[in-house]
Order: sequence, then C-alpha cells, then structure tokens
Amino acid sequence: MTNDGVNHSRRRFLLGATSVVGGAGVVGAAVPFVSSWQPSAKAKAAGAPVKINISKLEVGGRLVVEWRGKPVYIVRRTPESLAAIKDIDSSILRDADSLAASQPSYVTGSARTQAGREEYLILVGLCTHLGCAPMYRPDVGAVDLGGDSWLGGFFCPCHGSKFDLSGRVFAGVPAPTNLEIPPHVYESDDVVVIGIDAEIA
Ligand code: FES
Repeated sequence: MTNDGVNHSRRRFLLGATSVVGGAGVVGAAVPFVSSWQPSAKAKAAGAPVKINISKLEVGGRLVVEWRGKPVYIVRRTPESLAAIKDIDSSILRDADSLAASQPSYVTGSARTQAGREEYLILVGLCTHLGCAPMYRPDVGAVDLGGDSWLGGFFCPCHGSKFDLSGRVFAGVPAPTNLEIPPHVYESDDVVVIGIDAEIA
C-alpha cells in the first residue's frame, strides 16, 4: 500500500492476469474459427477441376460429367451441326451473340467455344429457367420440336425451353439466357479440364 491509498503491486497483478485471460480468450476463439473455415477434403474434392479424355466421344455424341455437383455436357458436333449453328435464323434466338450469357471471355462466336475447338461444345446442363436438365435432341426435323425448323439442340421438358446446338436459347420460351459455359482448358487435343480458366492455366 502506498501513500495515495492505491495498492500498486495488487493492481499490477490484476492487470497482468486480465491480459493473459484476454489473450487466451483470443486464441481459444481463433482456433475453432480457423478449423471451421478450412474446407474439408470432401468439399475440396467436390470443387476440384475435372479432367476428361474426350478421344472416345463419337461425332454427334455426348458425354455427361459432374463438376461441382452440376452436370456438364460435352457434345461433339457434326460438320452439319456446325453449319446449322452458323446459318440459323438469329431472329428465333433471344441472344444470338451471347451478350447476356454466363460464359468465359475466351469463349466466342456462334459456336461458343475457344478458337479452334468448335467441334466440342461444353456447357452446364441446367436450364437457365428453373434448373431442370435439358434433353440433348440432335435429331434434325424432330416433329415434336417444330419439324423442319428444328436443326438440333436441347429441349427442356419442364416448361418447354429450347436451345440450339450451341446452347443458345430460343426467343419466346421461359428460359431467360443461354446455357452456361463453365471455365475450361484443353490440356491436349484429347484432354479437357473443366473448372480451370484457359487464361490462367
Ligand atoms: S426449367 Fe427449363 S423450361 Fe423451366
């Protein structure tokens, strides 16, 4: 006890004890936060890129793979399909130039692919209306889809949305935008990786 009535040694002890408890509290709070913030191995695997060998995909055929819980369609288009995409009457499409579409910047043109990879269409197989999986309908002239005006594409049976063989949505259907193109990069002529952007690979 000093002359001013304050017990300095007791006050120092209390200040020191408060600091230690405060510090321990921060550490105690920080550890659970850090461990819960770290994604689990399963979550990491679910978000990981997917590598696909496309060498066995037949012309006109389609592969479906899963990436981040979504179906991704890979379609190998025929020369006729590619010609139809170029020649389609753009007035039947809502967004022929994909201005409002969700797609990487390195995907361009009516084919909606990287330059030189026009044969392979890669898109997320979820309708942009309410998320149903559109059917792959490459059968030109399908009577139930408009007969002569149907040049092949995707049809969503849930509410009748139609898309061409580049995943471009028709005008006048419920789906508001073209089917999404995911980030992807070609590792070689036969191997494509979904989930990595070509620009940063
Ligand atoms: S979910 Fe495809 S048209 Fe509605």
